[in-house]
Amino acid sequence: MRLVLRIGGSVIASPVDSVLIRKYVDLLKDLKGKGHEVAVVVGGGAQAREFIEVAKHLGLDGRAQDEVAISVSRIFAQLFLLKLGALSCIAVPSTIGEAAKCLNDGKIAVMGGLKPGMTTDTVAALIVEKVNADLLIKVTDQQGIYDKDPKKYADAIMLERLCFEDLTHVFSEDKHKAGIHQILDPEAVKILKKGRVKVVVVNGFEPENVLLAVKGEKVGTLVMTCRERHYNNANLCS
Ligand code: UTP
Repeated sequence: MRLVLRIGGSVIASPVDSVLIRKYVDLLKDLKGKGHEVAVVVGGGAQAREFIEVAKHLGLDGRAQDEVAISVSRIFAQLFLLKLGALSCIAVPSTIGEAAKCLNDGKIAVMGGLKPGMTTDTVAALIVEKVNADLLIKVTDQQGIYDKDPKKYADAIMLERLCFEDLTHVFSEDKHKAGIHQILDPEAVKILKKGRVKVVVVNGFEPENVLLAVKGEKVGTLVMTCRERHYNNANLCS
């Protein structure tokens, strides 16, 4: 399977968790050993936000703030590369083309941010599009995608199955459900919905969730293109 793994900075970098990074490196080796082709996109989380604040205090503009955040995410990518050794490429890809080449050379591609004004979700979506990936797994600090922001609303309900259209249309009409967008950047959704990729959002503090998602087992939230939608209740489509 061609797989893109988007590791949220909220999982490995807020604060930096070397034990978890090691577990993800082992997981990547395991996936490769099982014959999967894997591209990874990591974010800088709280560490990136700290540098954004420093840049702000220095009076630097938004573009410069993004640039330092990208650099931070690339340091995390570099840690993965160094730990993966020969299984990965020698440098962190700085373009989608380089990431695709790394993957096509039979290596695990690990990259961070790409350019200012983007998110790492969009980077992951661009790789999915470029290499025609089968599955995108986003590991985050929540169990999946909720009907509203679970950090703000105690009664938020996790949605097990969604169509991309739900993310762009249905929920955008309801401001209370804005949290649903934050877990997957709308720009990324726009790119993803054009293809045939499935997206699974899982809790990243338990890396074994990634293996469950790869096996197609029920975990977190599954988002896919639903050509014909049959709602079995207000939230779920099948
Ligand atoms: P993200 O918010 O995409 O990653 O990037 P994250 O830290 O993994 O986020 P969670 O864990 O999903 O919440 C962090 C920041 O890096 C800059 C932006 O400033 C973004 O808010 N960035 C990242 C870019 O400017 N361009 C990129 O391509 C990627």
